[in-house]
Amino acid sequence: MPSTIKVYDKTFEPYLSKVVIAERIKWMAEKLNKEYEGKRPLFIPILNGSFIFAADLFKELSIEAEVCFIKLASYKGTKSSGQVITAIGLDTELFGRHVVIVEDIVDTGKTLSEFLPQLYHQQPASLKIAALLHKPEATTYPITVDYLGFSVPNKFLLGYGLDYDGLGRNIPEIYKLVEA
Ligand code: IMP
Ligand code: MG
Repeated sequence: MPSTIKVYDKTFEPYLSKVVIAERIKWMAEKLNKEYEGKRPLFIPILNGSFIFAADLFKELSIEAEVCFIKLASYKGTKSSGQVITAIGLDTELFGRHVVIVEDIVDTGKTLSEFLPQLYHQQPASLKIAALLHKPEATTYPITVDYLGFSVPNKFLLGYGLDYDGLGRNIPEIYKLVEA
């Protein structure tokens, strides 16, 4: 792992190595393999951030499992509630299915707390969240991460799918912003 990297104007330092990430994903997959055996779960990774984590996690699953990547788009609703979030690419019926949402990182929890009710509406048999990273100090919306990789401080992270203004997703490790 190189010592520090620069993206645009910001400097990042190593935080979680490839080996540490891989080990933790294996551990998460073992839990999922046990808990979803015979249930044919449907994994729903949320793009773009989760694509690398989702792929690595999925490869470690030894049970029968399906995957359907989605992208969330938010637009201004006509209701007073303001933003409405819709899922692009969700082509599978969730009724009666065991669903696992796959997220790179849960920060404030806003995205998921606004989106999950739409999924519950379809009456899945169960609905859980698997997230590689969670910033508990930043989470102000009522979100429970059922399968968690790492609990992390409220700092900006980069790499392994996480971007800074579009860049850095391809870095194979996770870096942390060096604050000036
Ligand atoms: P939330 O709705 O605040 O939980 O936001 C979650 C989304 O914000 C994640 O799926 C990421 O795309 C993005 N995000 C949150 N924290 C970071 C970070 O530290 N680095 C890069 N992206 C982040
Ligand atoms: Mg994301």
